[in-house]
Amino acid sequence: MKNRSLVSINDYSKEEMLHILELAKAFEANPRQKILKDFVIASLFFEPSTRTRLSFESAINQLGGRVIGFSDSSSSSTSKGESLRDTIQTVSLYSDLIVMRHPLEGSARFASEIAPVPIINAGDGANQHPTQCLLDMYSIMKTQGTLDNLDIAFVGDLKFGRTVHSLVIALSLFKNTNFHLVSPVELKLPSSIKKFIVDAGLKYHQYTDIQEVINKVDILYMTRIQRERFSDAMEYERVKNSYVLKADMLSNTKEKLKILHPLPRVNEITEDVDSNKKAYYFQQAKNGVFVREALLASILGVI
Ligand code: CP
Repeated sequence: MKNRSLVSINDYSKEEMLHILELAKAFEANPRQKILKDFVIASLFFEPSTRTRLSFESAINQLGGRVIGFSDSSSSSTSKGESLRDTIQTVSLYSDLIVMRHPLEGSARFASEIAPVPIINAGDGANQHPTQCLLDMYSIMKTQGTLDNLDIAFVGDLKFGRTVHSLVIALSLFKNTNFHLVSPVELKLPSSIKKFIVDAGLKYHQYTDIQEVINKVDILYMTRIQRERFSDAMEYERVKNSYVLKADMLSNTKEKLKILHPLPRVNEITEDVDSNKKAYYFQQAKNGVFVREALLASILGVI
């Protein structure tokens, strides 16, 4: 993986994904090692972020590296009309690796084709979020002990949810994954992503009612309805409250169920769920540091 960009989760083989999860486990046991002290990493966020940006920056700091960049592109020369090409070419002169989030689908691939340094895609529009995918896989492995033979429900905005797209593609590589796709009709998982399931010989089932699946799954992956991706505000208003998970809905769920959510949440999980032992979304966010340490160390070739 040394010097290779990570743009889409399918840039990695199953073995490479599992290798990152193994490394993440080692970083969780020993997260503070000064192995990146000779490196400068650029963090370019053209779209808002809390977890992805700060967990990357925490990972870099804990490994002794230096971070440059911006969290708001209005403070960069993008606001003066500079192209993404020129920004990436320039930042490559100042850094050894670029972590980038951008609202345009395909922007990370474009950046990776012109940059002389590796690019890590921290989310490109509604397309992909591969580092979130790896931390989701790590969280599933940690809580279920396996990535095989799992029933997983994805709930909410499956059309625009880039974390869902990446995770469905990755889990299609594992044995007997049974996909339960719960969404409003307008926000179904795109056919281009369902094709990965079908091509792998696996099954998916589509629902509009969360009650049809909640008691039979091992992982309940809740997502936010993504207001910022809607061109029609009325359409968003119509679907925004489609799914609200409350603590009393968990009483007949599997003992080993874990609730994941890439966060941020709006109203799709009420706060009374947070204290339930099946809620795992804040630990999931914490796992992001270890997985991102593993990725940085691996791509920069220090382990
Ligand atoms: N999960 C995730 O991408 O969160 P942020 O938007 O806060 O980075």
